[in-house]
Amino acid sequence: TPPERIRNFCIIAHIDHGKSTLADRMLQVTGVVDQRQMRDQYLDRMDIERERGITIKSQAVRMPWATAEHTHILNMIDTPGHVDFTYEVSRSLAACEGAVLLVDAAQGIEAQTLANLYLAMENDLTIIPVLNKIDLPSAQPEKYAEEIAGLIGCDPEDVMRVSGKTGVGVPELLDRIVELIPPPVGDPDAPARAMIFDSVYDTYRGVVTYVRVVDGALSPRERIAMMSTKATHELLEIGVISPEPVPSKGLGVGEVGYLITGVKDVRQSKVGDTVTGERRQASEALGGYKDPKPMVFSGLYPIDGSDYPDLREALDKLKLNDAALVYEPETSAALGFGFRVGFLGMLHLEIVRERLEREFGLDLISTLPNVEYEVTLDDGKVVEVTNPSEFPSGRIDSITEPVVRATILAPSEFIGAIMELCQTRRGTLRGMDYLSPERVEMRYTLPLAEIVFDFFDALKSRTRGYASLDYEPDGTQVADLVKVDILLQGDTVDAFSAIVHKDKAYAYGVQMAGKLKELIPRQQFEVPVQAAIGARVIARETIRAIRKDVLAKCYGGDISRKRKLLEKQKEGKKRMKMVGSVEVPQEAFIAALSQD
Ligand code: GTP
Repeated sequence: TPPERIRNFCIIAHIDHGKSTLADRMLQVTGVVDQRQMRDQYLDRMDIERERGITIKSQAVRMPWATAEHTHILNMIDTPGHVDFTYEVSRSLAACEGAVLLVDAAQGIEAQTLANLYLAMENDLTIIPVLNKIDLPSAQPEKYAEEIAGLIGCDPEDVMRVSGKTGVGVPELLDRIVELIPPPVGDPDAPARAMIFDSVYDTYRGVVTYVRVVDGALSPRERIAMMSTKATHELLEIGVISPEPVPSKGLGVGEVGYLITGVKDVRQSKVGDTVTGERRQASEALGGYKDPKPMVFSGLYPIDGSDYPDLREALDKLKLNDAALVYEPETSAALGFGFRVGFLGMLHLEIVRERLEREFGLDLISTLPNVEYEVTLDDGKVVEVTNPSEFPSGRIDSITEPVVRATILAPSEFIGAIMELCQTRRGTLRGMDYLSPERVEMRYTLPLAEIVFDFFDALKSRTRGYASLDYEPDGTQVADLVKVDILLQGDTVDAFSAIVHKDKAYAYGVQMAGKLKELIPRQQFEVPVQAAIGARVIARETIRAIRKDVLAKCYGGDISRKRKLLEKQKEGKKRMKMVGSVEVPQEAFIAALSQD
């Protein structure tokens, strides 16, 4: 297809604002999927179509669309929807010339959408603003058209109104995409350059790589090279998705499609990297490539120690599909053998944990998440700390922590509550804008460490669920941080050590000591629970001694009941961990580490 007839676009939307439903309608209206095959969320469900041997999420679909003059090819490129994946979003946007900004006409724009809109504007994408769900009785298209027009600087009249559900306005939207979004430009005679905007591991085919060709062309069977690593691979298959994968004779300037090379690990096909031909290599890679950098770290331990090899295997498998996941073995006196795992953010952590539990049937404990600190010692030595147990004991000159630029959108009545929350989290207000008289956008600089710890929940509860949040990394700052240890009878319990701001050390110590006092059963002797910074104790609780006699409860001579109790106690013993001479049931560690 000649580039003038191609339009590459994505849909920027908040979860539940109707992206999948609109995509379904587009597939239908363009005839890519006929009435008979149509089912809800066609693209999302494609992974069920395994017999084709390829798993397709909705990364990119090609749709023909005929206007009065010509038939055009529309490539709809999917963007991931969450804060942790800003880099991936930025690469999907870089593969497009335009974006449909889709906003629920009954809800208005959310922080996430706003952040992605700004990203699209920075990338010079043509924005087509659209209000969805206008069939809803609660829709307020006038009000929200006004809001959107204010944000992108257009006329409220230019904000389109559609319903993904009924299909109203969808053909007009496709016409508008052809009319307003510029066709791709590139040099067809130059050496090939294609940008990878997604890569997905498939059990049957290995890694499926999604690319947008910028210059030149790629053809089947040729050898390609990845510009970041110089690694070369044979192109086993190249094609387009419409809506099933269809092998093609190649991809030219502006085209979007998939490549299969037989590599088994998404790390060999990195998002943002440039693909070129091996024989005629481009001299310069496309801009914007970055290695994924983990921001949040947590120890993951199997509750049953014998699951450790299974945990390793599960992580090795997940890694094939997740270039951002990093981990290394770690041991803890309290929790046994496990891994220290790095994540892009809290959602990434939750996703990985959930997949390990659901797909691999593992029961896990995770330690309190922490960020990466840079500790400079008095002698000038610099130590990177991703685990509180690595915190150096020498004299410390300074410590830096990562900070983020956060955007919060909320009804204006909650401004006070939000300011108060951000203040307690060491935030600095950077600016505030009214989107409308009732809605405000607040911009903060906040330490990442303060966000990873239940910030979102606190924000939601203070704003009755109305606030939305987005954030992106914004460098580091020097901060007054200390490491707080928790000691049982003088022995440090490594899993509870935390790096916290000096002003919060006392609160953390008191809270943890209190929790453990409640959770650890009495022993034969008195056990002090202390919180300490270095050698200085900042909080103390005492677990009083008890002579524990399980049989004492059994009056009378019910021998089977006695046996049962002894049996039970033995089982419980197996789950006990020794910290020095103190026996702690593993349950107590799990309960103390849970954030609620
Ligand atoms: P995620 O896949 O979770 O990101 O959501 P999404 O943005 O893709 O939204 P989805 O298409 O799944 O729609 C969310 C909900 O809104 C579903 O219950 C849809 O049925 C409903 N919905 C989507 N479009 C419309 C519409 O135009 N009108 C009405 N009334 N409901 C709609």
